[in-house]
Amino acid sequence: MTDSTRITDAPGHSTGEAGQGSPRRRDTILRYTTSDRTNHWLTAIAFVCAGLSGLAMFHPAVFWLSGLFGGGPWTRILHPYIGLFMVVAFALLAVRFWSHNFLQPADWKWLRQIRDVVNNREDRLPEVGRYNAGQKLLYWVIVVCLAGLLLTGIVIWRAYFSDYFSIRVVRLAALLHAFCAFVLITSIIVHIYSAIWVKGSVHAMTRGTVTPGWAWKHHRAWFREMIHAANSRSRPD
Ligand code: HEM
Repeated sequence: MTDSTRITDAPGHSTGEAGQGSPRRRDTILRYTTSDRTNHWLTAIAFVCAGLSGLAMFHPAVFWLSGLFGGGPWTRILHPYIGLFMVVAFALLAVRFWSHNFLQPADWKWLRQIRDVVNNREDRLPEVGRYNAGQKLLYWVIVVCLAGLLLTGIVIWRAYFSDYFSIRVVRLAALLHAFCAFVLITSIIVHIYSAIWVKGSVHAMTRGTVTPGWAWKHHRAWFREMIHAANSRSRPD
């Protein structure tokens, strides 16, 4: 168990048997530490800036976005550095959550029952751990896209590296760079939609905590782990 999965005694909340508190006095479960959340939101801000500056260079119809970065030349100078920042920030985030994102046999079952997922029939699904199969798949898609963006981005970074590659390689890299960016942007739109759709998730990433009800409903196996760990800690030796 990591530091980011403790049951907390948050201000204004009492401790006790999880799920038994009244609406005014209830336990909360720590899902993300301040450091997790800072890392996540820095990645998200870098993603937005990298996306906007990249789009500004992608098509003349959205070139006006370059105004946000000080004009065309500045957009071209800044974009690779913002991209590098995003890759580093995400790499740190990915390392934090790495071990929670391995797909287990229950995850494939969850995916096969995707109709139950979208129709909110969670009671029919296998119990979900810290992340569900959709979150895990998205995690790996982001890992692959960012690795792709980094590698192709180096090849097309004219100021330093492009001269080391043939024009055919640079052209192919430019194409793959745009493709990875497209998949990443689409995935993050799905990520944001799911975060808003599952009420209480955004609170986890802004304030750090979730209610026992949220954990029980959406991540029951993780909830059991948390309770088990909390009980072991409070048990006298
Ligand atoms: C811009 C708006 C974004 C919003 C509103 C948002 C929201 C959230 C929320 C609410 C969670 C917690 C989900 C849970 O605990 O079940 C989360 C987790 C996460 N987010 Fe974001 N996010 C955003 C952008 C990003 C970006 C740009 C990236 C990466 C490029 C990212 C990567 C992650 C990762 C890796 C997790 C942990 C999930 C896992 O490891 O499977 N997020 N996000």
